[in-house]
Amino acid sequence: MSNWVKVCATDEIDEEDVIRFDHAGRTFAVYRSPDDEFFATDGLCTHEKIHLAEGLVMDDIIECPKHNGRFSYKTGEAKGAPVCVDLKTYPVKVEGGSVFISVA
Ligand code: FES
Repeated sequence: MSNWVKVCATDEIDEEDVIRFDHAGRTFAVYRSPDDEFFATDGLCTHEKIHLAEGLVMDDIIECPKHNGRFSYKTGEAKGAPVCVDLKTYPVKVEGGSVFISVA
């Protein structure tokens, strides 16, 4: 069952940027792509549990701030060493000017 949780207003995330979102003891990263679409992944790098929201968004890639490992934030796929474990992704929807993620 999906469990939609409101993250923020759409204009609180810049295009080609990411924010940290904490909910119920978990941490997520929520992205806005250069094409104005929204995506969500686990908030911590699968390499050493660093917050990805402090990293850099480039096109559809999030680069970890610690060792520059790369993931596709659209699919969660690990794209560049030293990361080799994919990120979990979460469904996102935009409704009434707000961004929601499904954290079920
Ligand atoms: S902690 Fe993210 S690449 Fe090492």
